[in-house]
Amino acid sequence: MSGPDHAAGVPVTPQLIWDLPTRVFHWLLAVCVLGAWLTAESERSRMLHLALGYSAGVLVAWRVIWGFVGSRYARFSNFVRSPAAALSYLRGYLPAARAAGQAQTHYVGHNPAGGWAVLALLAVVALAVSTGWLSYQDDSMELWSELHELTGNGIIVLAGVHVAAVVATGVLHRENLVRAMVNGYKRARYGEGIAGAFTLLGLLLAAAVLAFAWQVYSGVFPALTG
Ligand code: HEM
Ligand code: HEM
Repeated sequence: MSGPDHAAGVPVTPQLIWDLPTRVFHWLLAVCVLGAWLTAESERSRMLHLALGYSAGVLVAWRVIWGFVGSRYARFSNFVRSPAAALSYLRGYLPAARAAGQAQTHYVGHNPAGGWAVLALLAVVALAVSTGWLSYQDDSMELWSELHELTGNGIIVLAGVHVAAVVATGVLHRENLVRAMVNGYKRARYGEGIAGAFTLLGLLLAAAVLAFAWQVYSGVFPALTG
């Protein structure tokens, strides 16, 4: 479905918007990325860094697939809009637009600006993981290390902007978006929610990523950890 999910109005009933795989993906990604960043410096925590970093890579690969086959609000087709749409959405927050009394469109899933933030976060994590792998190869060039450090730190900057934007949007729309990313529920018009949470798939995803991280940490994949 394209366009706003509904115009500003009275969305009142809590409805399921984020399926469990999307929520599991989100919080595991946040843990892996922050963990990888915190364990980056020291040689002693290298295996943990690799386990968390590769797991972030697995999560992004999963999210790309889920973006095509997942539930309504998890699909790229639901939230990837033109850059012009994103700019026009952001312009709606300018004081002039607000003073003119223009109602800001409310989106049940990601808004058009948030959609680009999602793509940017996925892309920069993918870049950090690939340059990390390249910098870990025996005959690696210094360039990969430099790019890895740049992208690894870049994620943290983007994530900071992301959290600030989430808090600001939540305040402006008087909506607790963080809680929604935890329990999946948001206020929406009747019928806008998704039919099922894909609970089993969400649990399987969590188990698979944890098992993978543990295996990498234990050195089971020499091709990855050398
Ligand atoms: C390194 C840390 C983080 C990364 C890489 C990250 C990444 C992402 C991504 C990729 C999405 C899109 C979800 C999807 O459709 O699959 C997202 C959404 C979201 N994130 Fe994060 N996130 C991080 C930390 C956080 C934190 C700490 C919070 C809470 C304070 C948060 C709150 C949210 C919320 C509420 C959404 C949904 C936004 C909406 O309503 O459209 N994120 N995040
Ligand atoms: C989200 C994922 C990742 C983040 C945020 C991240 C972040 C970082 C950062 C910021 C550094 C620089 C530390 C310093 O100041 O010296 C670093 C170093 C390193 N990372 Fe990662 N990393 C990630 C994934 C990976 C992966 C998948 C590998 C795979 C092998 C890896 C291998 C390394 C290695 C070998 C170093 C030290 C040598 C170098 O600087 O290139 N990282 N990482």
